[in-house]
Amino acid sequence: MIYSRIIGTGSYLPEKILTNQDLEKIVDTTDQWIVERTGIKKRHIAGDEEYTCDLAEKAARNAMQMAGIDAKDIDLIIVATTTPDQVFPSTACLLQGRLGIHGPAAFDVQAVCTGFVYAVSVADKFIKTGSAKRALVIGAETLSRITDWNDRNTCVLFGDGAGAVVLEASDEPGIISTHLHADGAFENMLRVPSGISRNYGALREGSAFMEMRGNEVFKMAVTTLGRIVDETLEANNMQKSDVDWLIPHQANIRIIQATARKLRTPMEQVVVTVHEHGNTSAASVPLALDTAVRDARIKRGETLLMEAFGGGFTWGSVLAKF
Ligand code: COA
Repeated sequence: MIYSRIIGTGSYLPEKILTNQDLEKIVDTTDQWIVERTGIKKRHIAGDEEYTCDLAEKAARNAMQMAGIDAKDIDLIIVATTTPDQVFPSTACLLQGRLGIHGPAAFDVQAVCTGFVYAVSVADKFIKTGSAKRALVIGAETLSRITDWNDRNTCVLFGDGAGAVVLEASDEPGIISTHLHADGAFENMLRVPSGISRNYGALREGSAFMEMRGNEVFKMAVTTLGRIVDETLEANNMQKSDVDWLIPHQANIRIIQATARKLRTPMEQVVVTVHEHGNTSAASVPLALDTAVRDARIKRGETLLMEAFGGGFTWGSVLAKF
């Protein structure tokens, strides 16, 4: 049996910080409202000349450094992003060029906030089938570019960042299972209604922004994430108590707490970073993972349950031995 093991993690947050107090000057909101409803205190915003691939590269290099490998050892690159640098080439190809890797497959995956979970699942299948030996999997976003800074319903929630893992083929247990889902019937609850082929004008005018029916998304996220946690454990004949760490998508502390309650996991075993950087979409799970690996909370041999929910709707989970 071939497993994919996480041999390195990395992350990167842009230097510029936007606090809740800064947002009070931009829209009709308060620090108290944002903290009470979301748990978010600040978010990082990419500089004008800083792009998704820049964030991805820094996170990737950190992950490769921890793994003790060189870029030439990588034979698959997957970047999960909703905010690619450009229409094409993919951000994964741009990154491949910067890393000086020539030949192996490189592509982007677009599943919004579930992107990293989707990308890990795809990379795991490449490794399990022998198509790749060492994969670089990155979630990277510059959501600030699709945020309407006049809309208090959304602009307080999102931030920019990147997180990465290096996965390596191993005969020791690593990723145990992955579970992916989508339901396009909910397209209009959370979306950017313009793009390349549709409403192209908005993109040209720089007004291709996120729209969200926040309260409905909140309810769907809570019930769906509760279900995915159950599905993951049932598929592996495991108990809730077998999970050492819940590493949830960092969208809203209240959604995270609801999932932890469902799993009967005390908050001490839940990695929470949402207060530090808001919702960074595909970057949020690997950012949280890297934080808890680097501060030595997560130890080798522990069981991790990662989960995410996002636009599409898409949702999914990764169960792994670290
Ligand atoms: N500051 C102050 N008031 C705000 C505000 C802000 N930034 N944003 C919204 N409000 C107001 C609303 O206008 C509304 O006012 P009204 O009652 O006068 O109409 C009120 O706060 C309550 O809005 P509501 O949407 O019911 O609040 P909520 O408890 O659902 O919290 C969210 C709003 C967005 C924080 C919450 O719904 C949420 O987190 N949803 C999920 C978002 C998400 O995670 N999306 C990505 C998924 S990957």
